[in-house]
Amino acid sequence: MRSRNISACCIQATCSQKTQKGVAMALLWRRMKVLVTVVMVNLFIFILISRNNGQEKGDLNKVHLPTKPFWSKVVPNQAYWNLQQQVLDLQNNPILTANYSTDDLPHWLNDTALTSDPCHADFKVTTQVKDYNSLPGRFKDFLVYMRCRSYPLLVDQPDLCMDPPFLLLAIKSLAPHFDRRQAIRESWGRSGVLANRTVKTVFLLGNTSEVDHHPDLSDMLRYESSRHHDIVQWDYRDSFFNLTVKEVLFLGWIETHCPGAQYIFKGDDDVFVNTYSILQFLGGLSAPKAKDLFVGDVITNAGPHRDKKVKYFIPESMYVGVYPPYAGGGGYLYSGDLAARLHNVSKRVALYPIDDVYTGMCLRKLGLAPEKHKGFRTFDIEEKYRANPCAYKSLMLVHPRTPQEMIKIWAWLSDPHLNCQKF
Ligand SMILES: *[C@@H]1O[C@H](CO)[C@@H](O)[C@H](O)[C@H]1NC(C)=O
Ligand SMILES: *[C@@H]1O[C@H](CO)[C@@H](O)[C@H](O)[C@H]1NC(C)=O
Ligand SMILES: *[C@@H]1O[C@H](CO)[C@@H](O)[C@H](O)[C@H]1NC(C)=O
Ligand SMILES: *[C@@H]1O[C@H](CO)[C@@H](O)[C@H](O)[C@H]1NC(C)=O
Ligand SMILES: *[C@@H]1O[C@H](CO)[C@@H](O)[C@H](O)[C@H]1NC(C)=O
Ligand SMILES: *[C@@H]1O[C@H](CO)[C@@H](O)[C@H](O)[C@H]1NC(C)=O
Repeated sequence: MRSRNISACCIQATCSQKTQKGVAMALLWRRMKVLVTVVMVNLFIFILISRNNGQEKGDLNKVHLPTKPFWSKVVPNQAYWNLQQQVLDLQNNPILTANYSTDDLPHWLNDTALTSDPCHADFKVTTQVKDYNSLPGRFKDFLVYMRCRSYPLLVDQPDLCMDPPFLLLAIKSLAPHFDRRQAIRESWGRSGVLANRTVKTVFLLGNTSEVDHHPDLSDMLRYESSRHHDIVQWDYRDSFFNLTVKEVLFLGWIETHCPGAQYIFKGDDDVFVNTYSILQFLGGLSAPKAKDLFVGDVITNAGPHRDKKVKYFIPESMYVGVYPPYAGGGGYLYSGDLAARLHNVSKRVALYPIDDVYTGMCLRKLGLAPEKHKGFRTFDIEEKYRANPCAYKSLMLVHPRTPQEMIKIWAWLSDPHLNCQKF
């Protein structure tokens, strides 16, 4: 500011000698002031730092004896999920488990008797969860079977990974979504070799149950499965709150059926995935990055919705706390190496009714965090770009897309004449 004023003044031809001299003096004086201030500030900082250093040195020589116990007594959490997690943490604590008997356990930990069959309906929750009776039905259903993690396979593909794929596309689907699955097979999820990499696709299904008034589609599913050999179905009620069950069953399935898959994409059946761009991204990863890979549309600093009308509502009697960073369940990409560790650690994380949050909890337990990649657009792209083929060229995932849109966009991307130089 200062120098600009001066030069502006002196550029003018009317600027006299006298004013020029005065300006030069003022400039010198101001510079002196600035210099002195800077020196003073530096001195002050120096004194501060050396004082702090002195303190640290003094602290090293002094032994601090704690005056109070430095551990805190474990008190039962009032929220049911948090309480279940406390129980699991205790059970898996190597120091405590080495040497405790159930008699030593505080009443509230013993109470959740860990001996009973976890797949028997647990009606104790009806009294353990404060407001159980006033909760929406989906919470009651979830809570009663919260400890059950194993359901029988109805349809399996034991040979799917005979040749371990580079990329396994695992798509969460529902029995009646025949058209979505077929569109995926005909577009981004075609099994085979793409860009010189092997890609395999598998659809993950639960059972449509009579409770939900579903028509019996089992004959059609049987036909679809014999025709395409890409359906895996477990016998549990396929509902939104049971998506976490799908997640843990799938992690177990990878371990036994597809441990050789190098990378896994898991997502919904209403997303478009640019498989080319995913393969390109994976091909460029360094070895250490590849091992712990977990990328997607990451949500940080979120917590449970307390508004009853929201799909993601969670009551306080169920969960308190913030959510760890998690990748939106529309689709995320991770390494086969990490899948095994996730399966392992999932046994130590209580099931949570929202599947992507649950996976975030498992990652946190492993000391990892999902990484955000701007190619994952679970909240879609700007409307004005949606009909532009080039908008999809460098993306990895867009949500939502209909079966017809999937086929259309895939045709755009597969066209060798697609030229996006000017985009
Ligand atoms: C287990 O407890 C007993 C007595 O309570 C003690 O003698 C023993 O050292 C403990 N073992 C371990 C592994 O902590
Ligand atoms: C813990 O549970 C076991 C079996 O369920 C029971 O025998 C024991 O008395 C219980 N202990 C306490 C402290 O409640
Ligand atoms: C295709 O992949 C194989 C094995 O991964 C490799 O040996 C070969 O060089 C690749 N070919 C091209 C054209 O990239
Ligand atoms: C699955 O759902 C169908 C349709 O509701 C039902 O008939 C069947 O008993 C369920 N269980 C199995 C094991 O198929
Ligand atoms: C999850 O599936 C089990 C087994 O079919 C069922 O009993 C339970 O009610 C389901 N939970 C929800 C929230 O739908
Ligand atoms: C599974 O966890 C256990 C300890 O909880 C550990 O010893 C084992 O190495 C883990 N396995 C994998 C594949 O991470």
